[in-house]
Amino acid sequence: MNPVADKTKIATRPSQLRCIGCGAIADHADQDFRCQNCGDLFEIFYLGWSGSASSKAARPDPASLKQLWLNRKSSFLPSDTSGVWRFREMLPALKTGNEPITLREGNTPLYDLPGCARAAGVNALLAKHQGMNPTASFKDTGMTVAASFARQGGFRWVACASTGNTSASMAAYAARGGMRSLVLIPEGKISWGKLSQSLDYGAVTCQLRTDFDGCVKVLSDVVKRMPVYLLNSVNPYRLEGQKTAAIELLEQLGWEAPDHLIVPGGNLGNSSALGKVLVEMKDLGLITRLPKLSVIQAEGANPFVRSIREHEGKTLTPVEADTLATAIRIGNPASWKKALRVMEATAGTVEQVSEVEIALAKAEIGADGVGCEPASAVTLAGLKTLVKKGFVKPVENIVLILTGHVLKDPEFTLKFHRGDLFQGTRHEGDARGLASQQRAPIVLDASVDAVIRTLEQFDRAASQK
Ligand code: F0G
Repeated sequence: MNPVADKTKIATRPSQLRCIGCGAIADHADQDFRCQNCGDLFEIFYLGWSGSASSKAARPDPASLKQLWLNRKSSFLPSDTSGVWRFREMLPALKTGNEPITLREGNTPLYDLPGCARAAGVNALLAKHQGMNPTASFKDTGMTVAASFARQGGFRWVACASTGNTSASMAAYAARGGMRSLVLIPEGKISWGKLSQSLDYGAVTCQLRTDFDGCVKVLSDVVKRMPVYLLNSVNPYRLEGQKTAAIELLEQLGWEAPDHLIVPGGNLGNSSALGKVLVEMKDLGLITRLPKLSVIQAEGANPFVRSIREHEGKTLTPVEADTLATAIRIGNPASWKKALRVMEATAGTVEQVSEVEIALAKAEIGADGVGCEPASAVTLAGLKTLVKKGFVKPVENIVLILTGHVLKDPEFTLKFHRGDLFQGTRHEGDARGLASQQRAPIVLDASVDAVIRTLEQFDRAASQK
């Protein structure tokens, strides 16, 4: 028995599913996680957490919560060493006796990025690196929760449509939890690293001749006909897990909210999750003010940006998505209404960035010794634009959420440094400016002199800068 866990006096809050469209409350959702009344998405809602004075007594005391979470850092219990379940008072509770499926996800570092700060024209810049999770993306924080609920529900099969990271994560957690997994991915449009992960973790991996949005369509019919548990981010349990990244971040910042949180936007689950918990933390008194949460999309996959700029967020018209940041090659994001709501609640904004801007930002994050996959780099590229537009001030505190590890897409990185990422594309002209960031491998004879000459050449070049 663990003394820390034993002393826990703070009760887990009862939670319900609430439709974001019509407000209907449900104890459980259908296989497709859509409201039966209006077809909209559900969110998890904690009873007694709203702002009314009458519910104040039911709310956990913020100082005790912070202390409890800190104490768990000295525990060796799986649910305490998980950087998600350590914050379990903020999560829906599993039934007594049901242990979570955990790979010790979360616990991700907060890095400073001095070179990137200079490139963006700000005084300082931090990055919360969610690529440092067990399967190397932020998806693990959500998957531990949703996969645990799938197992509790008695499902033998779990499934997702994916641009590669959800599938890698789902396959791993299904394997750990003794469930089978079905992956639908767009053929030829995800990185090999991600595909190889889902094969290794034992998923049944189907490459469909369509894009991500097409995979989602097929899967939503499959789950209606088969007893398969859907693990896409329409599953609100996933978002509950993903939100813990923001709790961990605030703890790392001594519970001082930054001015800005900048997040990549694809299917818009992650921004929704992080924004939801910012509001919850403010309601509970864990933080005193909200950071502005801003969402960045690739120009070629920008339906959310267009919805806000062209339709004031009233409707979203799907686009045919195209970007080399394949993780966010999504034209019809499921969670756009949730993302809109949190963006408005936190007074954030949206921005879009070009392919060349993404590639440059990724190399800059690499040059700070951190690295990330292309989709994560939209955050730095977007920040540069937000600074130029005056939305972000150079003196403000800014945190980028980096969502995937640099090794997720080595093909992109190699092509970038060899100078052929944009060869034969309409971006070729713009890409000429990237030369100073390109560090192609050098092929030499196996000679000491040749290596020393190369070193000297680089030294001379550096001293002339
Ligand atoms: N960054 C990375 C590395 C991703 O894999 C994703 C989404 C996003 C950002 C966008 O997050 O969808 O919550 O807005 N990847 C999904 C997948 C779609 O299938 O792996 P979002």
